[in-house]
Amino acid sequence: MTASAPVRAPDAGTVPAHVAIVMDGNGRWARRRLLPRAAGHRAGMEALRRVVGCSIERGVQVLTVFAFSSENWARPAEEVQAILRLMGQALMEEVPRLHEAGVRLHVVGERAGLSAELTAAIAEAERRTAHNARLVLNVCFNYGGRWDIVQAARALAQRHEPITEQTLAAALALAHVGDPDLLIRTGGEQRISNFLLWQLAYTELYFTPCLWPAFDAVEFDRALAAYAQRQRRFGRTPEQVLAAAVR
Ligand code: IPE
Ligand code: IPE
Ligand code: MG
Repeated sequence: MTASAPVRAPDAGTVPAHVAIVMDGNGRWARRRLLPRAAGHRAGMEALRRVVGCSIERGVQVLTVFAFSSENWARPAEEVQAILRLMGQALMEEVPRLHEAGVRLHVVGERAGLSAELTAAIAEAERRTAHNARLVLNVCFNYGGRWDIVQAARALAQRHEPITEQTLAAALALAHVGDPDLLIRTGGEQRISNFLLWQLAYTELYFTPCLWPAFDAVEFDRALAAYAQRQRRFGRTPEQVLAAAVR
């Protein structure tokens, strides 16, 4: 962890409504401890549990996390199996806790390629938490930004709908939430890795070397504090943005 000044939680007005996270660095975290990569993924699940709690405490409304990408199938079969098993286990163990905390869970991504058992567990978890409103948790699993844009375009074509920014956005897998305000990527890499290609158009990006299993409330507040310092302009000038803020 980097030593620096203590971080103050940002004022409620500057908390991002929607935080997206590329939860990267599980493998390196495990390797540094001479553990198998699967142990890193398990520790990563605990980090996610912490961050869900922090999100609720800070007043974040939507948390979208990247758990398994379309490209992660290319990993050794043993690791892929460990991740799939962990997802099944997480759904069994974590859903009661999430439900209790008022979290609405969505698992976002391609269902094809997942076992019938896992697909059923996902459907049941989504059904069970469907009426919760404290926090929306989108777990992107077997997800890729390109897959999403293609499936949306296909759906519009099948329905003979016109293709506009609005109709395409409405056909995407994350149409039930607004675009992320803040994207956090742990693990030190500064890339998108096929995450939310469409939705990140005006998202503030925050990169940290902290490996995902070590990510905690202090790191989360650090990211929120960095976000609170940003001026989002959406194409306008700084002066226009300031004038609109005082109005
Ligand atoms: C992220 O951690 C989790 C997944 C991609 C499933 P990694 O497993 O990519 O960890 P590193 O990047 O190898 O350290
Ligand atoms: C991105 O991490 C995907 C997830 C965190 C699920 P990767 O580890 O797969 O990304 P690359 O391969 O380093 O770009
Ligand atoms: Mg990685």
